Amino acid sequence: MSKPKVLVTREIPSPGIELLKTECDVEINPEDRALTREELLKGVVNKDAVLCLLTDRIDGEFFDAAPELKGVANYAVGFDNMDVPEATKRGIPLSNTPDVLTEATAEMAWALLFSVARRIVESDMFLRSGEWDGWGPLQYVGRAVSGKTLGIVGPGRIGSSMALMSKGFNMKVLYSGNRKNPLLDNELGAEFVPFTKLVRESDFISLHVPFWAETKHMFSASVFKDMKKSSIIINTARGAVIKEDDLLEALTTGEIAGAGLDVYEFEPAVTEKLKILNNVVLTPHTGSGTIKSREAMSIMAAENILAMIRGEKSRQCINPEIFE
Ligand code: DGY
Repeated sequence: MSKPKVLVTREIPSPGIELLKTECDVEINPEDRALTREELLKGVVNKDAVLCLLTDRIDGEFFDAAPELKGVANYAVGFDNMDVPEATKRGIPLSNTPDVLTEATAEMAWALLFSVARRIVESDMFLRSGEWDGWGPLQYVGRAVSGKTLGIVGPGRIGSSMALMSKGFNMKVLYSGNRKNPLLDNELGAEFVPFTKLVRESDFISLHVPFWAETKHMFSASVFKDMKKSSIIINTARGAVIKEDDLLEALTTGEIAGAGLDVYEFEPAVTEKLKILNNVVLTPHTGSGTIKSREAMSIMAAENILAMIRGEKSRQCINPEIFE
């Protein structure tokens, strides 16, 4: 009997691929780039399952091209690239990769926070330029982190992890979101506050909300105006939570002090003028990018595919109602 056919839309770490190969015929995009839309629609024909990336749009047109499809596993925790209602209507299970990238992403948020606050990239470039002539009291002086106020927007898995990591820095933690988080209250004495209070009082604001209609442009001109002039914003969530033009304006006019960004509104395009600002640190959506977490994501996505192929509900199923 022939094995189920699986398309992997871009090379992922080998543990997941090896696992898939135990039960399936696996076709992997041979190029080190995302598939074009045309390639994706062609590649999915006659496939039983697809392991896709956050850069692949999984929608009605995609499902039309793949009548045999038994499921799609996203190699990401965020799944704003997937039309979940459309898949559910068609009875196609979808999955994501939560938990295994929580700490990696929270660590990235801290890395960006410190890089901006302590001007790490700027001073590294200065040193490499050969212009450094010795220690100077005013050289690359940055902003303190310890004892300051950290505002977490979206105290879910990653937001909570970032907040808990603040323990060593003796920070006051504010958070806003849909509900109180007892772990943060008990462990940190954190305060659940309205969004407007968090915006006005935080020295560092870190974004951890999923991207959907309600969070699109949550940070735009009027919000930046309310932030402290000394404040720094960090985004490892989804780019369009911030209106990038308004962020640029806030950074250039001094309404806020800096930004650390891992995600962009029009990814992979990045507002050109952001790239020339010294008070901005930019990384290419590598929040989950540790060997440990990317390997764990590959195994989780592969396990989800194997369950889908067997007609079972995968552990990280996003639309479990299709099994009811
Ligand atoms: C995710 O998982 O949603 C990240 O953006 C990429 O790992």
